[in-house]
Amino acid sequence: MPDLEALLKEERVFHPPKELVENSNIKRFMDRLGIKDEDELRKRALEDPEWFWSEMAKEVGIEWFEEPKKVLEWDPPYAKWFVGAKYNIVHDALDKQARLRKNKVAYIWEGEDGSVRKITYGELYWEVNRLANALKELGVKKGDRVAIYMPMIPELPIAMLASAKIGAIHTDVFSGFSPMALQDRVNDAEAKVLITADGFYRRGSIIHLKEDADEAIEAAKSVESVIVVRRIGLDVPMQDGRDHWYDDIVRGQPRECKTEQMDANDALFILYTSGTTGRPKGVIHAHAGYAVGVSATLKFVFDIKEDDVYWCTADIGWITGHSYIVYAPLILGATSVIYCGAPDYPKPDRWWEMIEKYGVTVFYTAPTAIRTFMRLGEEWVERHDLSSLRLLGSVGEPINPEAWFWYYKYIGKERCPIMDTWWQTETGHFIITPLPTTPLKPGSATKPFPGIDVDVFDEEGNSLSKKNIGGYLVIKRPWPGILIGLWKNPDRYIKTYWEKFRDVYLAGDAARVDEDGYFWIQGRLDDVLNVSGHRIGNSEVESALVSHPAVSEAAVVGRPHEVKGEAIVAFVVLRKGYRPSEELKEGLREHVAREIGKIARPDEIYFVPDLPKTRSGKIMRRLVRAKITKDRIGDTSTLMNPEALVLVEKALEGEG
Ligand code: WT7
Repeated sequence: MPDLEALLKEERVFHPPKELVENSNIKRFMDRLGIKDEDELRKRALEDPEWFWSEMAKEVGIEWFEEPKKVLEWDPPYAKWFVGAKYNIVHDALDKQARLRKNKVAYIWEGEDGSVRKITYGELYWEVNRLANALKELGVKKGDRVAIYMPMIPELPIAMLASAKIGAIHTDVFSGFSPMALQDRVNDAEAKVLITADGFYRRGSIIHLKEDADEAIEAAKSVESVIVVRRIGLDVPMQDGRDHWYDDIVRGQPRECKTEQMDANDALFILYTSGTTGRPKGVIHAHAGYAVGVSATLKFVFDIKEDDVYWCTADIGWITGHSYIVYAPLILGATSVIYCGAPDYPKPDRWWEMIEKYGVTVFYTAPTAIRTFMRLGEEWVERHDLSSLRLLGSVGEPINPEAWFWYYKYIGKERCPIMDTWWQTETGHFIITPLPTTPLKPGSATKPFPGIDVDVFDEEGNSLSKKNIGGYLVIKRPWPGILIGLWKNPDRYIKTYWEKFRDVYLAGDAARVDEDGYFWIQGRLDDVLNVSGHRIGNSEVESALVSHPAVSEAAVVGRPHEVKGEAIVAFVVLRKGYRPSEELKEGLREHVAREIGKIARPDEIYFVPDLPKTRSGKIMRRLVRAKITKDRIGDTSTLMNPEALVLVEKALEGEG
């Protein structure tokens, strides 16, 4: 790829096409307000974020049951948006759309086996209402939790919307998570109902999801009912009185169901995400601020218009899917593609074939996917006409310039700007992101979305943004989609996000700001791994390892990986009586997959006699990581057992 190499050497700034800029939603918005450019917009929005976000609420057409009395109430570290309003996100995502866009397609769904379903807003409305009525019949009430463990089928958004419609709180668990991981989350949330499916296809083979769900809820006492969607017609065991087929339970239900009028700041969903210590934490998002934040960012970053065909390839079980497959596109009345299957199945051009088939105009994916396709070769892309595309997006980890250029050149044909969106489960929506008008620098997520106050701090909390040196990425004032807390864990909420810098949100990432005010994300500052754009807590993998009878201690760190971003490397100390062996390694890898899910299975395992620790007994992962990356070791004054670090290095070398 000679021209790609040439591109890589350039430090060019990429300007979006004029026509795209001129017709963009953001340009129209600025023209209406007499604002000359995006820098002025950012300035004006930061001078008065409450004004800006109420404008955004109007722009996305929010319909309140009762108007808010106040835009923001900031009682650190808790923020309340649109205080006093009566609202339900499902009204804007669905009820309103059934009125305005009854026969417009909301979702184009394709299964791995080639089956296709197109669902209009009118149909979606009926389906959601029928399921909502069924949930009520099962005794689900406002504030109850509904766990959802489903593949990427239309019934997944339907289940989320049905729960939210009646004021219940949904908690989705990614279908790739193991029964143990599901059990933990269901127990923590004390879910009353679990919605799942019989099974689904992945790379042509069958995943038996209901069996996994059964295993999980054996020890989940709160679950009273299980609803099972028949996706592929598997013969699954159904427990009398507890389990119901989806089709049976919605049959005969009325096609109307009243939408519960919630307080603006009532919980909409809980989504578990990993941290450095302990169990995954249950991030809670509320109805109103979240609704405005996700839909405004989608409208103005991905420039969604009435005739767009939009495809976000994330799984709905993660925050990206919640915000940008379910809630934001529906609030904007968009048409979205949902694909349930492997990206390269049956051939590496499956995605490109689908873009051509459905005329996708806006495409949003992750760097790890781009790197996978890069390796498979552009000949798979070139078989298809991708001229419908006008905007591309990236999320999950910093996109390396090489992948950026490949994406830009082979997918976007040098016509489509790439929106590199930085955000988190906790932020709910994009925080640092280009607008369609923004000149792009490959590898930078560019600048904060208007109205969001982002900075980089040094250890003492001084701003480093004018200095081009790395520090702590922080958000200085609340933004609409801000998490409203961690489920049943207010202490951890304060400790994780608000303790280091008083009343300032700590993101956990390192970043620097360059001379043009562009943000460059440098990765996590804690021990959280980022594998294929998914956050995996080192502590979860470690505790999974330690739960194996052969293991007494474990340290888990990341190794930079060409495709996945990071690979999982585990150092394991065995208990007395156990000997290192290849079988044991394989056994440990399988054990972690069972405990957490395949995504957490360690790529490499090393047996060591001891782990480097501080005098107080804390494992010094930083030093282990430095041995892997061959970086400078740095300060070792607190290291109690230097010989352990030498043995870590030997273990790494020994394995080649
Ligand atoms: C972490 C959040 C937000 C949806 C996907 C992941 C990393 C995310 C970017 C980006 C550099 C990124 C950060 C962040 N991250 N997007 N565009 N550039 N890093 O959500 O599991 O909550 O993980 O992902 O490290 O803190 P998540």
